[in-house]
Amino acid sequence: MSTLLDQLAETKAYIQSKVNAQATIGIILGSGLGNLANVIKTEMAIPYSEIPHFPVSTVQGHTGKLILGELSGKKVWVMSGRFHFYEGYSAQQVAYPVRVMHMLGVKTLLLSNAAGGVNTNFKVGDLMVINDHISMFTVNPLLGKNEDALGTRFPDMSEPYSKAIINQVKSIAGKNNIPLQEGVYVGVTGPTFETRAEYKMIHILGGDAVGMSTVQETIAAVHCGMKVFAISVITDLGIREEDNVITHEEVLQAANEAEPKLTLLFSELVKEVE
Ligand code: HPA
Repeated sequence: MSTLLDQLAETKAYIQSKVNAQATIGIILGSGLGNLANVIKTEMAIPYSEIPHFPVSTVQGHTGKLILGELSGKKVWVMSGRFHFYEGYSAQQVAYPVRVMHMLGVKTLLLSNAAGGVNTNFKVGDLMVINDHISMFTVNPLLGKNEDALGTRFPDMSEPYSKAIINQVKSIAGKNNIPLQEGVYVGVTGPTFETRAEYKMIHILGGDAVGMSTVQETIAAVHCGMKVFAISVITDLGIREEDNVITHEEVLQAANEAEPKLTLLFSELVKEVE
């Protein structure tokens, strides 16, 4: 058995020694978007620092726990706080918890993130359903030896984000009067926010939003056969008239303000997905 599979088996065994649960939905919450964890009835919360082979989250706004909880009457695994490439973790480490969720039986992965808007129709606070991504500005988590036990060497990426789930979310948003944007998320390494020229380039290349997470998790999830849904909160605008600067604080504040809409969408969606 390879090292990665050994590690995954050890992580799984540790988690299952704490709690033996059948949950097929996994949720990973982005910067400033961890409040969903408060509406989830927590059955068990394990600090990342206690889980074998888990990286430890260091960024402000990330609380760093794996939660088994109940949302809308369904068991869910929730990562409250995620790992980013810019923190110094490898792309494989960033993807590791997704693989752990796969080992625990997760079939559908729901992701949220804070992102900068480069679509000029977007406003701060908008929610953008991710219908595709560009991952080439950061490192692919599948580089290196392929673990055939997880998935195929050359995964198809023609529908990384489930169209069926996107349609379910649109219908939920419609019923609840939540306006949604939709578009392409461009993954970058960070930690710098982009220069004005970079935001423009990302727009020209077909991006609608840009952020420092999500694409590696999505790739790992697609690799092991999960369905993925991801949504961005637009926390700042990259293409703008003003000379304003972009700060982490304003990103967190915008994320916090949009949080209730996201909580409602995820709570309703969990009722409908398997
Ligand atoms: N760029 C990259 N990542 C981000 C941004 C941004 O403008 N906003 C929030 N995360």
